[in-house]
Amino acid sequence: MSRRDLLAYCNDLGWRDPPEFNPHPERETPPKAEPAPSTSPEIGSLADLKSSIGDCQLCPLCEKRKNVVFGEGAETAPLMFVGEGPGAEEDRTGRPFVGQAGQLLDAMVFALGFERNQVYIANVVKCRPPGNRDPQEVEMSTCSPFLDRQIQLIKPHIIVALGRIAAHRLTGSTKPMRALRSHWMTYQGTPLLATYHPAYLLRSPKEKRTAWEDMKLVLAKLTE
Ligand code: URA
Repeated sequence: MSRRDLLAYCNDLGWRDPPEFNPHPERETPPKAEPAPSTSPEIGSLADLKSSIGDCQLCPLCEKRKNVVFGEGAETAPLMFVGEGPGAEEDRTGRPFVGQAGQLLDAMVFALGFERNQVYIANVVKCRPPGNRDPQEVEMSTCSPFLDRQIQLIKPHIIVALGRIAAHRLTGSTKPMRALRSHWMTYQGTPLLATYHPAYLLRSPKEKRTAWEDMKLVLAKLTE
């Protein structure tokens, strides 16, 4: 999708408030949140963390996955999106959110005034659950030190949890998304907002405007 297509797409959705739009919110944001306590102090960079994951065999997801999908984006991203786990296209390419849902996430990122490579995108689990089933508790808990360390290294100003699985995992709540979204919470000291997963938005397009209400909260916090 070209930049022009994205802009047209966002405009179609009403995903832009030109008076508030700030293409470089990171320049005006307050200092980052205090880093969370380290669980793996010896791993000091995302590159080292990625190497340490390597050809991970720690949970059963390794049996059917093609690639570990570590995550990608800016090492000092102000904004970090966390989804649930790789799908087929992500498994094939080793990159997060590159399928249809990823294109919608790209539009959301763009509407917030960022390029995809200025934010960070990761998942609760780094390997594809077979058939895109929900990740199981043991898979999420085995993978969570890696996500935690990513968050500690990136030190985002804001985490956006995409969908129920990520929201439940990161908040500890089991409330439905309609109750969780639009309320600021924290994950290890970092402000966290939950919103609908882009795949859900593709199935329920009328909720795209609701998701944009959430993104406006993110934009306001980034620039406050
Ligand atoms: N859905 C997710 O939750 N993560 C991806 O990377 C792709 C689709």
